[in-house]
Amino acid sequence: MINDDVDAIMQKVLHADVIVWATPIYYFEMSGQMKVLIDRMNAMYTLDYQFRDVYMLTVAAEEEPEVPQRAEAGLTGWIDCFPKSRLAGTLFCGGVADSRAINGHSKLNEAYEMGFHC
Ligand SMILES: Cc1cc2nc3c(=O)[nH]c(=O)nc-3n(C[C@H](O)[C@H](O)[C@H](O)COP(=O)(O)O)c2cc1C
Repeated sequence: MINDDVDAIMQKVLHADVIVWATPIYYFEMSGQMKVLIDRMNAMYTLDYQFRDVYMLTVAAEEEPEVPQRAEAGLTGWIDCFPKSRLAGTLFCGGVADSRAINGHSKLNEAYEMGFHC
């Protein structure tokens, strides 16, 4: 057993109403860190859960709309294993090649509005 904070994170995920996954796009996929967390929370698979709406926020250097598609498809594989939940929305913020490039980006307002109405 790995003694880290994944169990505490998993308890929060199980008891949340809404889950928001956020990841940079790495090689047209979700980050390895996000995938490892999904896989580390495998124990959730047999447990009951409260969450229903799942959102995904992605950032990448490129701006083409297909850039986040594989990452979104990957998350859908996780959601399919929790059939009371659904992918309720996605938001892709392209053109972010370094950490400061997101400052003032119009997609931040869209993310805020998405959260406000969910
Ligand atoms: C390993 C790696 C792979 C990346 N792959 C892509 C990619 O496939 N498409 C893209 O548009 N940007 C890609 N990027 C750019 C990142 O998505 C972008 O710079 C993002 O803002 C990085 O977020 P971070 O600072 O949290 O890592 C990649 C960056 C890294 C480090």
